[in-house]
Amino acid sequence: MCTRLFWLLSATMLISSCKLMDKKDTKDNSARFSGIPDRKWWKEAVVYQVYPRSFKDGNGDGVGDLKGITSKLDYIKSLGVDVVWLNPIFSSPNADNGYDISDYRGIMKEFGTIQDFDELLKGMHERGIKLVLDLVANHSSDEHEWFKQSRSSRTNPYRDYYHWWPAEKGKPPFRPGSFEVDGSGWRFDSLTNAYYLHYFSYKQPDLNWENPKVRKEIFDMMKFWFDKGVDGFRMDVIPFISKDTTFPVITQKDIDEKYNGDWSQYLASGPHLHDYLKEMNSEVLSKYDVMTVAEGAGVTAATAHNFVDADRNELNMLYHFEGVSLGYLPGQFKHMDPKGYDLVQFKEIYSKWDSVFEYKGWGTIYLGNHDQPRMLTRWGNDAPEFREASSKLLTTFLLSMRATPYYYFGDELGMNNIKFDKIEDYRDIESINMYKTIQNSGGDLQYFLEGQKIGARDNGRTPFQWDSSANAGFTTGTPWIKVNPNYKTINVAAEESDPNSTLNYFRKMVKLRKANPVLIYGKYELLDKNNPHVYAYTRVLGKEKWLVILNFSKETFEYKIPATVNDGQYELMINNITQVPEIKDNKVKLSPYQAFIIAIK
Ligand code: GLC
Ligand code: CA
Repeated sequence: MCTRLFWLLSATMLISSCKLMDKKDTKDNSARFSGIPDRKWWKEAVVYQVYPRSFKDGNGDGVGDLKGITSKLDYIKSLGVDVVWLNPIFSSPNADNGYDISDYRGIMKEFGTIQDFDELLKGMHERGIKLVLDLVANHSSDEHEWFKQSRSSRTNPYRDYYHWWPAEKGKPPFRPGSFEVDGSGWRFDSLTNAYYLHYFSYKQPDLNWENPKVRKEIFDMMKFWFDKGVDGFRMDVIPFISKDTTFPVITQKDIDEKYNGDWSQYLASGPHLHDYLKEMNSEVLSKYDVMTVAEGAGVTAATAHNFVDADRNELNMLYHFEGVSLGYLPGQFKHMDPKGYDLVQFKEIYSKWDSVFEYKGWGTIYLGNHDQPRMLTRWGNDAPEFREASSKLLTTFLLSMRATPYYYFGDELGMNNIKFDKIEDYRDIESINMYKTIQNSGGDLQYFLEGQKIGARDNGRTPFQWDSSANAGFTTGTPWIKVNPNYKTINVAAEESDPNSTLNYFRKMVKLRKANPVLIYGKYELLDKNNPHVYAYTRVLGKEKWLVILNFSKETFEYKIPATVNDGQYELMINNITQVPEIKDNKVKLSPYQAFIIAIK
């Protein structure tokens, strides 16, 4: 496989590890997977998430679009990924960048037309790439025709497509509205003298899933996209769909006592949630070879199996929030603990989630997405001297765990947080409205803005960096959000020609995972769990035993390997820096953010 790779001519370290990979690759790959039970394409896939607004602008209006993505399919193909997950591309007034859908079968005007979509899907399938869309069905836009009808009168046939609370009953019991300045999930609508429910902004009214007509509408819409050939759905806040429509009073004390202080756990425990997912499965999902992944908001290790176990006949995978929530100060809005996060806890969380799915179900792993800051800034170190090594280390981690990796576009380039100084630079409803909330309560706005430099979602939404031309080659117009000024050096064009770039490292790591079932299905075991700097683990499948060593610190030190590796009795499979790890007497010198994987003989 390395014959096609120009980096062969580069550092000896790379040459030697490529040779090693060649050896493995010459064996028939399917034979290497034989005997593995419950194989599924979505377990073996690497998913690449594309935020369409920021990937590539095809018509110069400053907003990424479908034609732009189609024009870059060869790039996506070159990464070696199997599946692309696109954030919502449907008609939307964009209160929350497409997570407020006004027509589930139409394409957002700024993104193009249904013909552009058909072309994109065709281009992907021609290249052997699958396409997963975003199902945003907990809520619609308030500009959806259903809601317009629903709000028009209390007797309108669409009235019970949404949740209404008549004002003559008094104020409805509190429910959270995530993106609202006053934090309330109910909005008063004078037209019919009633409140409607919205767990996010008032522009995102919650659909009433207790109404069978609503479920049928959603299921028909899913079939529409599956019949077009779409390969799956990522399901936005799907655990929230079912509600106790008596809307009992829930106090903060209830949440603290029963749900560990976490409202989302309450929202994810609606009475008919799993009935509806089963119905969705039997009505729609079971009829297609597609993958599903729930945004596991409010899902805990104790409830996860209910969503994904094969014998439940519901969904395939979910992603949890425990990992990405680590390190923020409690009770504050996404403000990092100045000490950073604790690696020992990080290891505990990811090891726990591995064990959750060890015998049943299947996990996912991610460190960044459109709701998260850039993984390099949040989990690595974006100082220039550590950017490359720590970015490659995180890539090594994501692609060597037993779980389907969801890799966020731009992370392969080592893109980092833009760290805006002013609220005016932000576009995200979450940051803007939280700013207003803090302003209204007389809070410390400067402190908030400092925190947002690490935690804000817009950090992960800046335009993809293609080259060093104006606006990083993303658009010929004015980008909808600022481009990170580091695009002059951090971009695809520069990294293509550098054999040691983070981009080429990502490609190499994807290949390594795809070619070696031990990285996909092998048993995971955490070693040296209390070490505050090193994350070490083995992956074992049959006779193969691979050891992953990740130095999450900026220190150089000698490390005692917590497994038996006899001198010379190992093969180096990948290494993220030029210094080749030499293991002698079970010890190895680790450089800052060094990551390597060996196969133990
Ligand atoms: C999910 C999406 C997020 C969106 C929210 C409301 O968390 O990932 O981007 O703002 O749901 O739809
Ligand atoms: Ca455009």
